[in-house]
Amino acid sequence: QQISIIGVPMDLGQTRRGVDMGPSAIRYAGIVERLQNLKYDIKDLGNIEISHLTDDQTDVNEDEQNLRNLQEVKEVNEKLASSISKEISEERFPLILGGDHSIGIGTIAGVAKHYNNLGVIWFDAHGDLNTAETSPTGNIHGMSLAVGLGLGHEKLTNIGEYTPKIKPENIVIIGARSLDDGEKDLIREQGIKVYSMHEIDRLGMSKVMEQAIAYISKNTDGVHLSLDLDALNPHDAPGVGTPVLGGVSYRESHLAMEMLAEANIITSAEFVEVNPILDERNKTATVAVALMGSLFGEKLT
Ligand code: ARG
Ligand code: MN
Ligand code: MN
Ligand code: MN
Repeated sequence: QQISIIGVPMDLGQTRRGVDMGPSAIRYAGIVERLQNLKYDIKDLGNIEISHLTDDQTDVNEDEQNLRNLQEVKEVNEKLASSISKEISEERFPLILGGDHSIGIGTIAGVAKHYNNLGVIWFDAHGDLNTAETSPTGNIHGMSLAVGLGLGHEKLTNIGEYTPKIKPENIVIIGARSLDDGEKDLIREQGIKVYSMHEIDRLGMSKVMEQAIAYISKNTDGVHLSLDLDALNPHDAPGVGTPVLGGVSYRESHLAMEMLAEANIITSAEFVEVNPILDERNKTATVAVALMGSLFGEKLT
């Protein structure tokens, strides 16, 4: 099979600089060689170009209403969506390297138009289900899943010229332990399936993945994996901008990827929030590459 790698050096969806170097850190940690060893045909498309902001970079612009860098985030995600869509049309598996999680907007926009019922596995400490109305920060990386559901500013929901992209019943969130009040309300209202750290502790990752896979395979014709490295315990993945204690362990996260590989359901994937400036000797990018190895079947070959 062919895999197309697309880097998105995006750091405008939040306020900690350095996450724009995530794609370089992941390539440096050897992603291309790792997947070539598994006999995949790898096409590295390089990075999506991001316009450079200067002194107002961290401001919430008044007419952007609690949506930091709205215009820039929109433009990058539009480019990303069309690049991904092209790769899928040519039957290549899109593997996206972030960049902050605001790129989930463009990824879902590019992928979802190729499926009637796209499933999304959101592996994350957070829900990323805020809108400008509920966000405590104005950071768009905390809104990307909501945008996929059609909630939020129309500059974002209309990327790809259709909305909504995904249905609430086709989403599973795994690893959550930091949800804002508005996100909890939305999860309840829309009936979104969440395996928080509590469920992972009680059931174990094995049962959680068994259930999650059964749940998401039921009504979907493709499944996108959006993996935020902050889902992991900060001890195992320290190079992230919004770390939260008490996360998924190194082994649990590998088990999750191995079970996805066995189930053979994933049709696109993104690995986001790797920030080498906050990291320890590229540990987090190295973990990301190891997880991609497991996702693409290292254990099975
Ligand atoms: N919920 C917080 C917010 O809306 C944190 C979001 C963190 N998101 C992420 N992709 N790391 O700002
Ligand atoms: Mn920058
Ligand atoms: Mn997160
Ligand atoms: Mn996230």
